Amino acid sequence: MGILEKYSLKGRVAVVTGASQGLGKGYAIGLADAGAMVVCCGRSCKGVEATADQINALGGKAEPVAMDVTRIDETGKIFESIRERHGRLDILVNNAGFEDVSKFVDVTPEQYDTIMSVNLKGTFFTAQAAARVMIQRKKGKILNIGSLGSAIGLAESSVYCGAKGGVVGVTRTMAIELAKYNVQVNALGPGYFRTPMTEPFFQDPTHRKWIEERIPTGRVGTVEDLVGVVVFLCSDASDYLTGQIIYVDGGWLAN
Ligand SMILES: NC(=O)c1ccc[n+]([C@@H]2O[C@H](COP(=O)([O-])OP(=O)(O)OC[C@H]3O[C@@H](n4cnc5c(N)ncnc54)[C@H](OP(=O)(O)O)[C@@H]3O)[C@@H](O)[C@H]2O)c1
Repeated sequence: MGILEKYSLKGRVAVVTGASQGLGKGYAIGLADAGAMVVCCGRSCKGVEATADQINALGGKAEPVAMDVTRIDETGKIFESIRERHGRLDILVNNAGFEDVSKFVDVTPEQYDTIMSVNLKGTFFTAQAAARVMIQRKKGKILNIGSLGSAIGLAESSVYCGAKGGVVGVTRTMAIELAKYNVQVNALGPGYFRTPMTEPFFQDPTHRKWIEERIPTGRVGTVEDLVGVVVFLCSDASDYLTGQIIYVDGGWLAN
């Protein structure tokens, strides 16, 4: 097999959670561009339908599936039905996420539970459901989504940082336990990207300046800056890479 063929996702079945907008939508389009059939998941039916329609219109293959990652009782059934429809599951990009900024001293138990239930508990049990399917074919890639908050503190994001730090912790143990089944588990740590989640930060001139000043590359990234790494981490080219978090942040953490 030539080296470039190892990056191809032709014939692979991928699930992307949080594919209705933002980075997840970009990952779904990128995986389809690399040849995968992409199951686009999210709570918003309209949103995931729009992403799947866009992929299909571009000549790729995609289908929308309504899924709330906090409805853990339903997650296993959804993955089993994907396996029944497509005969396999090769890739999970575990991207669904949620942030609700608040000073640490003001965080309520309800806010804590909501942020944790999407970003850590949802990520954990979505990966578990995918792993149970991948183990059967002894092949798979799980890409959990961390953040700069997996490595450093971010003001007014204490719970989010706790959850994203936790994502790295669970990724390592998943990688160890799934290695013997030829399932690789890694995490991606994006820097700051402009999406509906981060739009309020970019709208605030002080916050925007704070972000821009910390990026040695000199510009805020776009989802295209992430897609190449996502495709690599979901392809055969990364088969010996597992249990790692890869930060794609324009050099932020090098500071
Ligand atoms: N943007 C950044 O700069 C940045 C940086 C580091 C990490 N990240 C991480 O990257 C991921 C995507 O972020 P983003 O900026 O693209 O955010 P976004 O624009 O707010 O998109 C979040 C996505 O997650 C989905 N989602 C939220 N709660 C869900 C739930 N309970 N079940 C299923 N899907 C759910 C949303 O879809 P529905 O509303 O349709 O469910 C949406 O598609 C997140 O994990 C985020 O923490 C983002």
